[in-house]
Amino acid sequence: MKLKWWNSGLAAAIALLGGCSKSKPAWEYMSDMMDQPALKAYEYDKSLPHRRSAFLPVPGTIPRGYQPYPYKEDPEAAGRELKNPLPMTKEAMLAGEKVYKTHCIVCHGEKGDGNGSVVPPFPRPPSLHSEKVRNWPDGRIFHVVTEGQNLMPSYASQINAEKRWAAIHYLRALQRAEGATQEDVGEYLRRGTTDYGPRTTDQGSGTE
Ligand code: HEC
Repeated sequence: MKLKWWNSGLAAAIALLGGCSKSKPAWEYMSDMMDQPALKAYEYDKSLPHRRSAFLPVPGTIPRGYQPYPYKEDPEAAGRELKNPLPMTKEAMLAGEKVYKTHCIVCHGEKGDGNGSVVPPFPRPPSLHSEKVRNWPDGRIFHVVTEGQNLMPSYASQINAEKRWAAIHYLRALQRAEGATQEDVGEYLRRGTTDYGPRTTDQGSGTE
């Protein structure tokens, strides 16, 4: 096949432009594009105040949407003073189920009895159906999820406050299912549905 003259010209141009052999650095055309005064993120530079391009935030800086948590050292006060801001609706329950099944189930198990898939080797957590946890107010449980407790880490950075409260609604549903009474069973039969929803149909936005 006979190459057209402009074909060979193109090939030559490509050969020239792409002439970066591994042994030599590429030819810099308009090197200002390479060497800019702009700093790259986290670039090290001795002459900068922090020796790097990233500055520390001004003391007292808080992330957008941050809410202080004043109960760090006082779980009981969290229990007394914090109220679950989410009404127990179907939406909240489904959101809580998602949180529980994403974050809690691996340790606490599907039913909350401590039979999670990582147990063992992870030590078995106590059952969430104990007298103690059933009698805890929502705020006290919120404290455990927010601050962690002994071996259980804090989930504040993974699960936002609203989702933590939703998970507590789901935990309450697990507790109620575990300790179901004749009355609950009666209601279940009356409703004729396994759909989640508030206890009585005139509350929240349960869809029935
Ligand atoms: C990595 C495993 C792990 C995960 C994940 C986990 N927990 Fe825990 N949880 C534990 C352990 C272990 C304890 C017992 C801590 C202790 O010894 O005080 C515990 C304790 C608790 C308690 C207090 C129980 C009591 O009797 O004192 C609650 C409530 C609780 N977890 C809820 C949750 C919720 C809700 C989630 C999900 C947001 C969650 N946990 C995720 C391991 C876990």
